Amino acid sequence: MTSRTDSTEENVNMEKYWRTRDFKTSARLHLQHWLFQSTLGFVLIPSIREALANGRTTPLRVADLGCGNGAWLFECANLLPPSAQLYGFDIQPVHFPAATNIPPNVKLMERDVLDAKLPDDLVGSFDVVHIRAFGSLIRNSDCGPVLRAVERLLRPAGWLQWEEADTSAMTASAGRDDGARSCNMLLSVIKAGGRANGTTFDWFATVGDQVAAANFNYTNVVKFPLKSEQYKAWTEDYLLVYEEVAQMVPKEKDVPGAPLTREKYEGMFDQVVKETNEGAVIHSQHLIVIVGQKAA
Ligand SMILES: C[S@@+](CC[C@H](N)C(=O)[O-])C[C@H]1O[C@@H](n2cnc3c(N)ncnc32)[C@H](O)[C@@H]1O
Repeated sequence: MTSRTDSTEENVNMEKYWRTRDFKTSARLHLQHWLFQSTLGFVLIPSIREALANGRTTPLRVADLGCGNGAWLFECANLLPPSAQLYGFDIQPVHFPAATNIPPNVKLMERDVLDAKLPDDLVGSFDVVHIRAFGSLIRNSDCGPVLRAVERLLRPAGWLQWEEADTSAMTASAGRDDGARSCNMLLSVIKAGGRANGTTFDWFATVGDQVAAANFNYTNVVKFPLKSEQYKAWTEDYLLVYEEVAQMVPKEKDVPGAPLTREKYEGMFDQVVKETNEGAVIHSQHLIVIVGQKAA
């Protein structure tokens, strides 16, 4: 017999999420990019910038895994010397800007970064590998596949900078009692959908140890609290995701009597929007930056 929770989980397939996108997804990623930048106050964390400034003999090489629309890479290109070579890899190139509109030292490439078959001239060649908002690729709290990809690309003593919203700390709240009821319900549905795909958020607690175990001899995990005046902007960013998730939920006619259907999800989403219009907010409380230096 299938329990109510099991049926709900089976009905939301987050894995399909990254396959169905349009310009709104890229706009959302731009909003998220500027929210990250405003919260962190840096493109490259000062400890990495300082390390890079010392004793270079070859052009700097930077890779961004799952680069989306390239927003982070373009800002990074602005702060590095023009000799730096920047590469963005994404499994889905639909959000890449036109090649004529990007700096000449930035290359965007369609690649599955979890696939070991990366061009030989790139393997072991990067001074910095950057990842941001890649949490949906972590299955069963195992960061191994992502860290192996990073490790393969870094040169000895190269640096990892990995930024995430701490989705283990997602919260919904409102100024008045019960003002975020539907928001909390929606968070539970999203969590259940993630669990069905092996996406749990407890890896945040062990990521430092996992990096250390993956041939990195320096690791540091730093938390950056969100600014409360930006909770509304973060809420809007998450609402855009949750609105898209509706497309992943089957309609009532396809799963008659299921505890979660597209129609029920959309009804709940309308209530969520109403609550947020009245001041409820949904956010991750803080960002996490994971820094690692590969063994020399
Ligand atoms: C949440 S978006 C983040 C985009 C970008 N890092 C940012 O912060 O704006 C995740 C990105 O990872 C990409 N992605 C997912 N799986 C991937 C894989 N196996 N290899 C490369 N890119 C992948 C998606 O296509 C999407 O662009």
